[in-house]
Amino acid sequence: MVCESARMTERSNDTVAILGCGTMGQAILGGALKAGVFDPSHVTVTGRRAERVQPVADRFGVTATTDNVAAVKASETIILCVKPQLAKQVLTAPGLAQALDGKLLVSICAGTRLSQLRSWVPGAYLVRAMPNTPSVIGAGMTVLSPGEGATDDAIARVQRIFDAVGRCRVLDEQYLDAVTALSGSGPAFACVIIEALADGGVMMGLPRDVAVELAAQSVLGAGRLVLETGTHPAALKDSVTTPAGCTIAGLLTMEDGRIRSTLARTIQEATLVAKGLGGPDEEPAS
Ligand SMILES: NC(=O)c1ccc[n+]([C@@H]2O[C@H](COP(=O)([O-])OP(=O)(O)OC[C@H]3O[C@@H](n4cnc5c(N)ncnc54)[C@H](OP(=O)(O)O)[C@@H]3O)[C@@H](O)[C@H]2O)c1
Repeated sequence: MVCESARMTERSNDTVAILGCGTMGQAILGGALKAGVFDPSHVTVTGRRAERVQPVADRFGVTATTDNVAAVKASETIILCVKPQLAKQVLTAPGLAQALDGKLLVSICAGTRLSQLRSWVPGAYLVRAMPNTPSVIGAGMTVLSPGEGATDDAIARVQRIFDAVGRCRVLDEQYLDAVTALSGSGPAFACVIIEALADGGVMMGLPRDVAVELAAQSVLGAGRLVLETGTHPAALKDSVTTPAGCTIAGLLTMEDGRIRSTLARTIQEATLVAKGLGGPDEEPAS
């Protein structure tokens, strides 16, 4: 099978299907439409129930259907955004694998490996992607792992989609479970930290809304400082730690609570769970 890469590159407005348009499907769709990467007239979104998917399509001005095969037939790039437990059921439904022949399938399903996807849809070009929810405001972090045979053109097309909704980088699939834990689940961990910092502010007399704003903007600002200056977080921390001051007093309290090992082990545990989400590899049919 030969990838039609020439056809892929000359198209500026790719036809796109999003299979399963829930939280992440909508985050990617909204971000890519806002950035002008998708033309709404070229996008089809699917769902199990018309009454759920039609309002989503109406909101974004795209086409809705409950027919995954029809959506795939109408599109060159297909983004699979169902829960990992449903990936096999969706991809092995009658006619789906044939409809995907020679097309680009981007799966964002956590824990679902390229080898599994390959066994379900052998004729598709595959890219695994691990985005996160801040994609909805253009502040996402996505890691791509291309499958064998995915052309540079195809990877560039996927990168364009995820660049439009935040940062995007390409890594080997062996890292994807750790990526799922760190940046896929990371926003939830960061929200707990923001909430806890705000609780401290409330305890010391700040109104709740003010405390949440201060905590969230501090976390956002610290993140941007790390990324935009390229300075190690420890050096940034040291630069604001005055001898005998309040920052070192707070830092030592954090260390008493073993915050570093707690956070590091959070990623370790989430990685182990991510690894199992796609289920076991299947024996090849004899
Ligand atoms: N949430 C995150 O932070 C995050 C981050 C990175 C990656 N991911 C990955 O993103 C994927 C989606 O997660 P999510 O949080 O967006 O889940 P979600 O909100 O539940 O969205 C999944 C969507 O798939 C639809 N669906 C179910 N069966 C379908 C079928 N047969 N055909 C078409 N659509 C179908 C669901 O419709 P109904 O509601 O009608 O069932 C729902 O709208 C998962 O694989 C997850 O691992 C999630």
